[in-house]
Amino acid sequence: AGPKPLAGRTAIVTSGPTHEPIDPVRYIANRSSGRQGHAIAAALAKLGADVTLVSGPVTIPDPQGIRTIHVEQAEQMRDAVLSQLPSDIAVMVAAVADWRVTTSAGQKIKKTPGEAPAPLQLTENPDILRTVGHHEKRPTIVVGFAAETQDIEQNGRIKLEKKGADLIVANDVSPETGVMGGTRNRVKLITESGVEEWPELDKDEVAERLANWIAEHLNQGAVR
Ligand code: C5P
Repeated sequence: AGPKPLAGRTAIVTSGPTHEPIDPVRYIANRSSGRQGHAIAAALAKLGADVTLVSGPVTIPDPQGIRTIHVEQAEQMRDAVLSQLPSDIAVMVAAVADWRVTTSAGQKIKKTPGEAPAPLQLTENPDILRTVGHHEKRPTIVVGFAAETQDIEQNGRIKLEKKGADLIVANDVSPETGVMGGTRNRVKLITESGVEEWPELDKDEVAERLANWIAEHLNQGAVR
């Protein structure tokens, strides 16, 4: 076998959800198993990249032989990602909570039966992909994901532009697809030059193909 196509390259991958505390025992989160992100980290490493995985709280094991930073909240995830720049590749797969509770309670909030609960005040979380996509140390290849339930291509295209990404991997996460938490995925690759549809594949196969796509485009020079 020849040299690995990503030998000497560095990559940052985010995976899993973030948990935004309401109080010490409750949190806000998105659904995410971390399967797709962890598989991408492993696939990039298999091609020779030096990978740092930044993972939110998941129940799956850390991929073997990959430096994994564990975080809970979006702000911690952002800090961990930025601490790894510069990097050749960034693949932001995490399902980051869009909002956090403005001031989480230091003690468990007690319910008073029959009384209306206090409303939660929310603050927008940092957009990690967008921060990386517009950073002065922007990686050569920046990849984002778009979990959509409708208008997948159009939303993907908007996201590409807004986030400063080279590629958006868009998937349909409507409940009937079983993608969320499942082992299979069906994605569309959205770049400035168009849309490429992949068949339904195992998340491991999506990861392998994506790692190859990244290696090809990186070795051809910048995408944008
Ligand atoms: O805007 P939306 O959440 O749909 O964008 C999804 C993409 O942006 C994913 O790649 C996700 O990892 C990334 N993202 C992020 N930080 C956020 C929100 C989303 O990195 N706060």
